[in-house]
Amino acid sequence: MHINPNLFFLFKDGDFVVWDYQNHQQFALEDAYFERLKLWSQGKVTQPSPIDEELLGANLLSTIPISQGEWGWDLLSHIFHKGTSDISENILTAEQWTESYLDYCAMIAKNPLPIVLSNANIELPTADVSLLKTTDLIDVFYKRKTCRSFHSELITLSQLSTLLYFSFGNIHKEWPDLDGLQQLGIRKAFPSGGGLHPEEVYIVVLRVEGLEAGVYHYDCINHRLRLVKTGFFEQKVVELVCSQYFAEGIAVGLFLTSKFEKSWWKYPHSRGYRVCLLDMGHASQTCLLTASGLGLHTWVSGAFSDSNIRTFLELESETEFPLFFIGIGHGDNDSLNPKIRKALE
Ligand SMILES: Cc1cc2nc3c(=O)[nH]c(=O)nc-3n(C[C@H](O)[C@H](O)[C@H](O)COP(=O)(O)O)c2cc1C
Repeated sequence: MHINPNLFFLFKDGDFVVWDYQNHQQFALEDAYFERLKLWSQGKVTQPSPIDEELLGANLLSTIPISQGEWGWDLLSHIFHKGTSDISENILTAEQWTESYLDYCAMIAKNPLPIVLSNANIELPTADVSLLKTTDLIDVFYKRKTCRSFHSELITLSQLSTLLYFSFGNIHKEWPDLDGLQQLGIRKAFPSGGGLHPEEVYIVVLRVEGLEAGVYHYDCINHRLRLVKTGFFEQKVVELVCSQYFAEGIAVGLFLTSKFEKSWWKYPHSRGYRVCLLDMGHASQTCLLTASGLGLHTWVSGAFSDSNIRTFLELESETEFPLFFIGIGHGDNDSLNPKIRKALE
């Protein structure tokens, strides 16, 4: 017999638990069962045991080898990937699907969607549509590229406001298509799983005409800013993005965070984590295209020190985490920073 390779063990509420992350099953294991699994894994089984039948029935043992397939990362990502794959394979009729969807809605509606009201009080100028109307979409597609060489030039407050509004703002307000039904989510220029939009935007202002340097939080509903703290944090940003000095010379740095509690309110399974990451990709690309449309240059980073960013942004919630960074400003749009180019040459 072969041991199921897609298992991990943990202590939970006083039990010793085996978690079969391929089949999405967990069992509390008594010592005899654990010892038996251990013997099988060590190839030391000498005689049959009735326990084997139970272990077989629970898919912890198999009569044929179970392949883990090819996997280039370590086990942690394999657990997450397999553990969040194939969680619903039932084939339903339209009626069954609708009924199960309504049941699901009723189940999650028992708890309110966690929302923290913003106390942002810095008014932003109305987004200036004319700044974006001169560029057509095809031009924007071609303009968007990674820039690692910024010039320390100012951007205008109107550019920042327009960027924030069209990238992350609640541009649709009411949803006429819901026709009197309760509107739960918000609609921005990019989609979000369940319309939840768990993303939040923190702006490190370095070079914006008419706005004091510092860290601000964007209130996407009211199109306002909340000041977190003042100061010129350019070197701090470089430090936070793992010393990537490409951030030098940007006008603003955006730390995009995700409020996981919104997602697990509606998507209690870990698969919801994937949705947060997918949401963030959509948010980021919308921002990159808007910035390109405004004639600005962009640099992104997925490499950063998560906990230090939480401290820097003074995040009070324990369930909000940084997922991405976007640097924006005027530059020469060179994908190579001059220091790297020199070193390469
Ligand atoms: C998820 C993600 C993470 C990235 N992280 C970094 C990063 O840490 N540092 C960096 O210089 N570029 C980073 N980039 C930018 C890519 O290197 C860049 O998009 C790629 O080289 C292609 O160039 P292009 O953006 O001009 O098409 C990242 C891009 C994405 C989408």
